Amino acid sequence: MQNTRKISQDLYWVGGSDRRIALFENAYPVPRGVSYNSYLLLDEKTVLFDTTDHAVSRQLFENVAAVLNGRALDYLVIHHMEPDHCSAIEDLLLRYPTLQLVCTAKAAAMIGQFFELGDLSARTVVVNEGDTLSTGHHALTFVTAPMVHWPEVMLTYDTTDKILFSADAFGSFGAMNGNLFADEVDYAAEWLEDSRRYYTNIVGKYGVQVQAALKKAAGLEIKMICPLHGLLWRENIGWLLEKYNAWSTYTPEEKGVVIAYGSIYGNTENAANILAGMLAERGVRNIHMYDVSATHPSYILSDAFRFSHVVFASITYNSGIFTNMENLLHDIAAHNLQNRTIAFLQNGSWAATSAKQMAAVLEKLKNMTVLEPLPTLKSSVKPAQVEEIAALADAIVASM
Ligand SMILES: Cc1cc2nc3c(=O)[nH]c(=O)nc-3n(C[C@H](O)[C@H](O)[C@H](O)COP(=O)(O)O)c2cc1C
Ligand SMILES: [Fe+2]
Ligand SMILES: [Fe+2]
Repeated sequence: MQNTRKISQDLYWVGGSDRRIALFENAYPVPRGVSYNSYLLLDEKTVLFDTTDHAVSRQLFENVAAVLNGRALDYLVIHHMEPDHCSAIEDLLLRYPTLQLVCTAKAAAMIGQFFELGDLSARTVVVNEGDTLSTGHHALTFVTAPMVHWPEVMLTYDTTDKILFSADAFGSFGAMNGNLFADEVDYAAEWLEDSRRYYTNIVGKYGVQVQAALKKAAGLEIKMICPLHGLLWRENIGWLLEKYNAWSTYTPEEKGVVIAYGSIYGNTENAANILAGMLAERGVRNIHMYDVSATHPSYILSDAFRFSHVVFASITYNSGIFTNMENLLHDIAAHNLQNRTIAFLQNGSWAATSAKQMAAVLEKLKNMTVLEPLPTLKSSVKPAQVEEIAALADAIVASM
């Protein structure tokens, strides 16, 4: 049965949610599921904005058919060729024989890479930056947003209703719970964390390109943002833009300390706990601690984007970094984190080397300040290390 929602005069949400999925992109835990948003505009011409993942495509077909109510589907605008949004292209071309695809040249090339559909040129309208498509009452302007996840990405601005179809930008993990709009929920309490984890992990590396897209968006009057995942925005859009501005410029949202530790027997963990307590006693309020063996790196990376300071504490492991910590560090390096104050703590029973190796992984990141001293454990915390940890706590507080 259809599950569609009218979201403005001529526009319908026709997407779906998947709560069975364990890992988004087979990488990121999504305990609250994820939504795949798809939008259908009924004008003189009918326009579908993106399809969905296979997981909910049956719902999509029912929804589209229900809203069309016997009409033909004229256009499918493809903002992004990642399979979580384009899995149903082939099916739709078969179901709607006069359907035309609207996408960038790069996306058109990718259709051939993902599907065996032969020559689609007669069924494709290739658009460029600034092109406009009139659908009757509505005029749709296309805005390219390369690397706001993938190179072929574009956004659509409905100049009639001032709606921005933002592709993966402004999205979030989390299935829809009936409410479609951010203003219908306590977004800061219930969604911001997943929205930040989504942005930082999925698009975080491409801050420069996101900044370019935000500059283009700044020139538009936007009454509603329709992203491909998560809730839609029609109020308080400035608040969301501010978050995006911070994330994409690698500016901490808040002063605070993330302590990520990798420990086998618990001694490095003990040192991390001692440091956290000392920071708290020195007045630091935002302290988030993570055992890298217990918490998926996507959560820790997200917090590293949120806060100003990150401490990495690791045992030495086979003359290297503890595996889960190494994984986290490579993830942070791959996502281009910048402008943070960081510190290390190491442990090793015969030759502690992990701090140097951890620093090497993060070496190329821009504008990272490394604090001293470097507390070094030779198995367990001894009075000399308590002193070093206290000195590090002092240095962290002094730098805040
Ligand atoms: C598989 C394995 C490999 C290790 N490799 C090293 C090493 O290369 N160099 C070293 O100094 N210690 C090494 N250690 C020892 C630990 O780093 C050391 O015992 C440390 O105190 C453990 O701290 P924890 O109590 O926080 O787990 C290794 C331990 C294990 C289990
Ligand atoms: Fe994507
Ligand atoms: Fe996506």
